[in-house]
Amino acid sequence: MVEITIPKPDDWHLHLRDGAMLEGVLPYSARHFARAIIMPNLMPPVVTGADAQAYRDRIMAALPKGMQFKPLMTLYLTEGTDAADVARAHTSGLVTAVKLYPAGATTNSNSGVRDLAKVMPVLEKMAEIGMPLCIHGEVADPSVDIFDREAVFIDTVLDPLRRTLPQLKMTLEHVTTSNGVDYVMAADANLAASITTHHLMINRNAILAGGIKPHYYCLPVAKRESHRLALRKAATSGDSRFFLGTDSAPHVDPLKECACGCAGIFTSINTLSCLAHVFEEDNALDRLEKFAGLNGPAWYGLPVNGETVTLIKRDQPVSFPSRIETGDGPVTVFDPRVPIHWEVV
Ligand code: NCD
Ligand code: ZN
Repeated sequence: MVEITIPKPDDWHLHLRDGAMLEGVLPYSARHFARAIIMPNLMPPVVTGADAQAYRDRIMAALPKGMQFKPLMTLYLTEGTDAADVARAHTSGLVTAVKLYPAGATTNSNSGVRDLAKVMPVLEKMAEIGMPLCIHGEVADPSVDIFDREAVFIDTVLDPLRRTLPQLKMTLEHVTTSNGVDYVMAADANLAASITTHHLMINRNAILAGGIKPHYYCLPVAKRESHRLALRKAATSGDSRFFLGTDSAPHVDPLKECACGCAGIFTSINTLSCLAHVFEEDNALDRLEKFAGLNGPAWYGLPVNGETVTLIKRDQPVSFPSRIETGDGPVTVFDPRVPIHWEVV
């Protein structure tokens, strides 16, 4: 029997939704994660400090009695966002970061940013007070091939922004390409990246080969194998600029299994087991704690969690539910397509 104990992980990118879905999925995150950066792309989005306070209260109210979990709130950046409101929400400790969605890039991103010039006063204020910007790093330009949208974003948006505002701390979230990995590695300061579990395990064939598989469709979409391997190398390297953000993004099955299915993969149930599998495969189990437990807190300036979690490698594969029931309907769980022997105990 092999076992590993690490500081209780945090999830640096999580969609908890609201209402019945929030109630349905929150316990799975709270079981394995001490804290999570909560995505603000609700309908309508979490834009102001008051919105974040109300959403945080709803999350805490949905947390089952006896469970501990700290939601780290984010604000959805719009062209109307008020810099003073953002600063107040951050200095009071309510809000950890601001989230930039290029308008149209992903689920519920229509209120996102079309013209970066319009949000420069907010970004300048954030740089001044040391508040991080979490970035969905894809252009939404329909003329750009969907598999190139991250690389084009880096060249045409991220790099110019970093030159304009080098003091602004930025997280390139759910990075999916070797371009993204290389760009982060080449940066001298103020840039880090989160990586999802599923992008370490699947490439685009999972979505498109042998029949279309909507439960592997997310944004940014999985890329070709060489990119997956670059992500694996970055995640398992121990480099402090890379850490876990699951991007667990539940949608009910009818909204995934249809002619225009939603983007998002629900992974919070089995993500740690899958990660242990990945790190073991790459002979890097000793670096799992960096990726899942140490690098993120260091980047966000928070203490490492005092609690720990232990994973045990079983002789038999561990079974996970293929779907969960929520008050909004069934949600399919990420199927890693390989037997997973690691269990969180
Ligand atoms: C996310 C969602 O469903 O809210 N979907 C996804 O595929 N990751 C949005 C996002 O993070 O891009
Ligand atoms: Zn997301």
